[in-house]
Amino acid sequence: MRTVLLSLPSLLAVPRVYARFHLNFGHISQVFAFGDSYTFVQGTSGFPNFSYVGDLFNLHFTAETLLSDEIIPKNTSSGGSNWLEFLTGCFGGRPSDCAVQLWDFAFAGSDISSELLPLHHNYTIPLVDQVRQFVDNNVLSIVPAKRDSERMTVWWIGINDTSDIIGRNTTSLEEFWVQEMEAYFTAIETAYITGLRGTYLFINVPPEERSPANVGNPENAGRANDSIVSYNAALSSAVAKFSATHTDVHVSSFDAHAWFNAALNHATALGFANTTGFCQCKDPSFFWYNSGHPTERVHRLLASAIEAQLHAESVHWLAHDQPSMLDEGNRGEGLVS
Ligand SMILES: *[C@@H]1O[C@H](CO)[C@@H](O)[C@H](O)[C@H]1NC(C)=O
Ligand SMILES: *[C@@H]1O[C@H](CO)[C@@H](O)[C@H](O)[C@H]1NC(C)=O
Ligand SMILES: *[C@@H]1O[C@H](CO)[C@@H](O)[C@H](O)[C@H]1NC(C)=O
Ligand SMILES: *[C@@H]1O[C@H](CO)[C@@H](O)[C@H](O)[C@H]1NC(C)=O
Ligand SMILES: *[C@@H]1O[C@H](CO)[C@@H](O)[C@H](O)[C@H]1NC(C)=O
Ligand SMILES: *[C@@H]1O[C@H](CO)[C@@H](O)[C@H](O)[C@H]1NC(C)=O
Ligand SMILES: *[C@@H]1O[C@H](CO)[C@@H](O)[C@H](O)[C@H]1NC(C)=O
Repeated sequence: MRTVLLSLPSLLAVPRVYARFHLNFGHISQVFAFGDSYTFVQGTSGFPNFSYVGDLFNLHFTAETLLSDEIIPKNTSSGGSNWLEFLTGCFGGRPSDCAVQLWDFAFAGSDISSELLPLHHNYTIPLVDQVRQFVDNNVLSIVPAKRDSERMTVWWIGINDTSDIIGRNTTSLEEFWVQEMEAYFTAIETAYITGLRGTYLFINVPPEERSPANVGNPENAGRANDSIVSYNAALSSAVAKFSATHTDVHVSSFDAHAWFNAALNHATALGFANTTGFCQCKDPSFFWYNSGHPTERVHRLLASAIEAQLHAESVHWLAHDQPSMLDEGNRGEGLVS
C-alpha cells in the first residue's frame, strides 16, 4: 500500500502519450515549405528569382501581402515548374485559390544558418530565418485554417551547405553537421511549438557530385560526395530523434540521394539522353537545366516518386471518424488500414 501511494505522484506526472499521428495523403490540402533553390517558387512579393515572399532585409509581411502574393508560373530553378508545384498542383496565382495550397518560404541559395556558413548574398534568407519569418509573421493565423491532418510541411535543405563547406577549415565534417542539425532542428522546434503539426516531410541531399558542376572533375566530385554522404547520415539521425520525440507528427523521409542515383543510373530508360551536360532549353532529353539544377521533367518524375511514397505511407480513416481524433493526435481507433 505504502509503495503504491509513494509511486502515485510520479505516475501522475507521466505526460499523456498519444499513438503515432497518421498521414492520409489524400486529405492534405495545405503545404508549407522551407529550403533552397530546389524548392523555392517565385512570388509577386518575392525577391526576383529567389523567393515567394520577402528577403533578409524584408522579413516582415502583412496578412494582406501574404494572401495576395501570387505564384508566378514556371519561374523556378528548373526553368519550368518545380517538384512542389507538381506535387500540390499549385502552379500559379494565389495559393489560397489552389485545391492544395502551397505556402513556400524556401529561398534560393539558402544554407541552414548564417552563424555556420556565410550568406550567398546579403538578402539571402537562411533556413532558420525562413522559420523565423514564418513564426514572427504568424503565418498559421493568416492562411486558411486547417486541421493537422490536412497539413504537410516539407523540409529540404543542405544542397548549398554541403557544397559551401568544401574548402573551409573544419577539423571534422561530422562535428560540423552536428552543429548544423542543432540549428536546423532548433528552428523546426520553434515552428512545431507555434502549432505547426500534421506531416513533416524531410528530404536529403541528392548526389550533387554527379551534377555537371562536378561530374568532369573527380577530385571535386569526391569531396562533394564525402560532404553529402556525411550530411545525409547526420540528417538521418536527427530526423530519427525528432520522430521519436514528436509522436503527434507524421515524420516522413524521402531519400532524394537514392532517387537521383537511381534516375541517373537508369537515365536512358527514362528518356534522358544527356546526364552530364546541361541545357537551358526545353529539350526533354536533358537531365540538368544548368550546372547544379535538374530540368522540369526531372522535377515532375521526382514529384511522382514522392507522391507514391506518401500514398504508400498513408493510412485511411473512415470519413466519419476523422475529424476531432486527428486534431488531438489520433489514438488508433477508426483505422481501416
Ligand atoms: C521570373 O520572374 C522574374 C521577376 O520576378 C523575372 O525577372 C524573370 O525573368 C522570370 N524568369 C523566367 C524564367 O520567367
Ligand atoms: C531571372 O532568371 C532568368 C533566367 O535565368 C533571367 O533571364 C532573368 O534576367 C532573371 N531576373 C532577374 C530579375 O534577375
Ligand atoms: C547554391 O546556391 C547558389 C545561389 O546562390 C547557386 O547558384 C548554386 O548553384 C547552389 N549550389 C549548389 C551546389 O547547388
Ligand atoms: C547588399 O550588398 C550589396 C552589394 O552586394 C550592396 O550594394 C548593398 O548596399 C547591400 N545592402 C545592404 C542593406 O547592406
Ligand atoms: C585549420 O584549423 C586548425 C585547427 O583549428 C588549425 O590548427 C590550422 O592552423 C587551420 N588551418 C588553416 C589553413 O587555417
Ligand atoms: C561516392 O561515395 C560512394 C560511397 O560512399 C561511392 O560508392 C561512389 O563511387 C562515390 N562517388 C564518387 C563520384 O566519388
Ligand atoms: C550533353 O550536352 C552537352 C552540352 O550541350 C554536350 O557538350 C555533350 O556533348 C552532351 N553529351 C552527350 C553524351 O550527348
